[in-house]
Amino acid sequence: MVDHIFTDYNEATSALRIKDLKQSLYDDGEIIMDQVLVCLHGDEHKKRRKLENKIFTRDVFQYYENTIFPKTINKTLEPYKKSGKMDLVDYGFRVLLNLTADFSGIDRPEKSISETETLLRLLKVFASGATLHHSTRDHEEVKSEVRDALKEFDQKFLIPSISRRKMIINKESSDELPNDILTILLANEDQLNLPYDVLQREIAFYLLAGAQTSIHSLVHAFHEMHNWLKDNPERKSSIKNDPIFIQKCFLESTRLHPSSPVALRKPVCPVKLPGDKDAQPDDNVVIDLYKSNRDKKIFGDDADKFNPDRKTPDGQNLYGLSFGLGMHSCIGRNLAAGVNSKPDTNPDNHHYGTVTMIMRKLISCDAFPDPNNTPKMDEKTKRPNWGYYPITFNAKGG
Ligand code: HEM
Repeated sequence: MVDHIFTDYNEATSALRIKDLKQSLYDDGEIIMDQVLVCLHGDEHKKRRKLENKIFTRDVFQYYENTIFPKTINKTLEPYKKSGKMDLVDYGFRVLLNLTADFSGIDRPEKSISETETLLRLLKVFASGATLHHSTRDHEEVKSEVRDALKEFDQKFLIPSISRRKMIINKESSDELPNDILTILLANEDQLNLPYDVLQREIAFYLLAGAQTSIHSLVHAFHEMHNWLKDNPERKSSIKNDPIFIQKCFLESTRLHPSSPVALRKPVCPVKLPGDKDAQPDDNVVIDLYKSNRDKKIFGDDADKFNPDRKTPDGQNLYGLSFGLGMHSCIGRNLAAGVNSKPDTNPDNHHYGTVTMIMRKLISCDAFPDPNNTPKMDEKTKRPNWGYYPITFNAKGG
């Protein structure tokens, strides 16, 4: 068994596009990831992705960005306004949980604080299961927690959400059919034949795929931006008054900090890899997104640094490979990151994506890293994520 490791940007790009390489990053996390979209291959993957992709339309993004999400951001900030302090990681979880619950199809009928707390707790357990590959904890202990969390999720959230949708689908209720993953899977039950446990994991996976990645990207971007401002104080006005520049800060930071530092694949048959290497089915293909995204040949001599003014070569994205490429490329990218701006983009009707929207709100409230509290990395994972990031803000801003 050979490990084929790609750290060169162009080779990594080609490797991600090879159709005979299947997903293997989540093999350890199958307790929550078995047969979910990102782990499927070939026709099965194509069929489910095509169906689920129907939720990720421009109209839906616009509706969220203009109507739903601003309210969610404000409402979630409310409890912290008195103290003007919060942990950005925790806030990120709360605000994005609401968004991904809507997209996944998880109803929160009570809309109470305790209901949100429960869902938040379950989401964190699912996240620890999905990233078991990078976990520093006892793996059996994490698996047992995930099993319990799935049972609780089922009883409190999934079963009631399924019942409500089935009533609408069977026309026993006059409610409007929601636009979410659960609904689309239930409405197409006949062609998919998904066993219940797969449906359960797919929804739990969506809940966390949307939230966890965006949260960590948000905190990295906030940190990078404030560090950069120390050396570039004259650019404070760009941060405050130029939302397109804020989006560039987020995209640049996302290049430096991909939510998973590597993509892992296994050949489904003997396959030719970039650099004319031959790989066999028991080999591992490691696509190092972290290092490829810092390739100086593509991003220049300062590729290791945060530079929101960076110009990338034609055809390359500011965020590098951080949203993946090829068959598993991120289905929620436009939701989280919006669309790329052009020199003539009108900032008043640009699609910024949810993470930039949160950053804009924080900046408008003069949010800063808390000078009296030190942020900490998350010690429960080998992924370089912030686990605690205290900030202060002005409650009257915004
Ligand atoms: C900053 C935010 C995000 C980042 C950095 C990110 C990153 C990624 C990456 C790198 C992949 C590819 C994984 C691989 O190749 O193994 C991926 C796939 C995926 N992402 Fe995202 N993601 C983000 C936000 C979202 C959101 C908001 C959603 C949904 C609401 C989402 C849903 C998915 C799904 C379902 C897949 C699997 C697609 C497939 O296999 O066909 N992601 N994401």
